[in-house]
Amino acid sequence: MKPLLEALWYILPAYFANASPVVFKGKTPMDFGRKFRDGRRILGDGKTWRGFLGGLLTGTLIAAIQYCLTPDFYGSLDTALKLGFALSLGALLGDLIGSFIKRRMGMPRGYPAVGLDQWGFLIVALILAYPIKTLSTGQVLFLLAVTPFIHWAANILAHKLGWKNVPW
Ligand code: CTP
Ligand code: MG
Repeated sequence: MKPLLEALWYILPAYFANASPVVFKGKTPMDFGRKFRDGRRILGDGKTWRGFLGGLLTGTLIAAIQYCLTPDFYGSLDTALKLGFALSLGALLGDLIGSFIKRRMGMPRGYPAVGLDQWGFLIVALILAYPIKTLSTGQVLFLLAVTPFIHWAANILAHKLGWKNVPW
């Protein structure tokens, strides 16, 4: 596989984990409606348990499918599942950190935060996945460069499909 294609193949579970909560969207917010000491919500109603667990499951399942298609890329199913889980968990945690920061800045749920929305999930996913399977510096830079465009296109699609109220 070409290195750039390989990088996209590697990160796919993180993309799915980041995007699938919009389909799963649950009711119970992860902060249980609680407020931070600044009087604003800790995370907000956009981060639910169902979305989080659904994202974790979807991302890990994608890695299992990827293993069936390219077993040599992963070496073993165990590695593929661990990588898929780490990428998904990282993507979801990165998204939560993003929401926490947005709430601290007084931004309401769904408000676009350029940079945070596109890179937060990616960076934490890359950090958690790194010990399981590494990418080259060039591949990491490539993902940092293309992810905002992919994120943007995926959100427009989700909006057109009626899954999201706002196209960002
Ligand atoms: N979602 C969810 N649980 C998560 C993440 C997302 O249920 N852990 C669902 C919510 O319905 C959310 C939608 O997916 O509104 C889109 O996700 P995202 O853009 O990350 O959330 P926002 O609504 O923009 O909220 P925030 O401002 O906190 O990012
Ligand atoms: Mg959003």
